[in-house]
Amino acid sequence: MKILIIGATSAIAKASARLYAARKAQLFLIARNEELLIELKEDLMIRGARSVAYYVLDLSNQKNHGEALEQARQSLEKIDIALLCHGSLPDQEACENDYNRAKKEINVNGLSIISLCTELSKVFKAQQSGVLAVITSVAGDRGRQPNFIYGAAKSMVSTYLQGLRGKLLAHKVHVIDIKPGLVDSPMTSKFDKGLLWSTPELVANKIVRGIDRKNHTVYVPGYWRIIMATVCLIPEFIFKRLKI
Ligand SMILES: NC(=O)c1ccc[n+]([C@@H]2O[C@H](COP(=O)([O-])OP(=O)(O)OC[C@H]3O[C@@H](n4cnc5c(N)ncnc54)[C@H](OP(=O)(O)O)[C@@H]3O)[C@@H](O)[C@H]2O)c1
Repeated sequence: MKILIIGATSAIAKASARLYAARKAQLFLIARNEELLIELKEDLMIRGARSVAYYVLDLSNQKNHGEALEQARQSLEKIDIALLCHGSLPDQEACENDYNRAKKEINVNGLSIISLCTELSKVFKAQQSGVLAVITSVAGDRGRQPNFIYGAAKSMVSTYLQGLRGKLLAHKVHVIDIKPGLVDSPMTSKFDKGLLWSTPELVANKIVRGIDRKNHTVYVPGYWRIIMATVCLIPEFIFKRLKI
């Protein structure tokens, strides 16, 4: 099994990579921090990975996406699964008052993913196989006051993936949208944790299972599907007054 993980040093990505390492996968990792990539490579080799190679890239720089993916393709020869994990949780207030800051966040959480999916679609179409799995968020399901810049970027990606899924069907390529709820990771280190929180390990288990089963949209944990369906049912005249 040949797996490309982008944003590989994220907590959720690392936990997912460990599950694939235990299956003796060949892994290609892309992330911006080389020290963490070296550490992760050693960790994955100990856990059973057949091989691990990596490429250092700030993913907000779309100019280098093609080159990075070409390296991945050459190293793995074929890509069975591409898992896209990078993202950042912006300071909502700061983004509301500074368009350039909002643009930067939308670039990382939205446009950089679409750029990578564009290049990966070409690879998968040429192969006539592959699974494209992207981590978005439940935040994309409805624009909420505390995080609508992040939510808007994630929602853009989810809508994009819905269309891409149909386009790639004829090429035997499967597209999965993974929507975690609240996960205890470096991204959320400043938040108080409660009942609805999950661990990166639990999320990784659900991601790998969703990919195995070729699900379309995976809410992680599953109860977020019900929570977000309920949130989406709230009439707008009430919803606009809620700070949830
Ligand atoms: N945690 C949650 O509650 C939650 C909920 C829903 C969805 N998600 C999504 O889950 C995914 C994984 O997040 P996580 O929870 O595992 O958080 P995390 O550990 O903080 O991971 C985020 C990763 O994104 C990387 N990244 C950010 N900007 C980048 C850039 N310009 N170039 C390269 N890498 C960049 C970070 O790299 P550095 O380590 O180098 O900074 C980090 O590895 C993200 O897409 C996130 O939006 C998380």
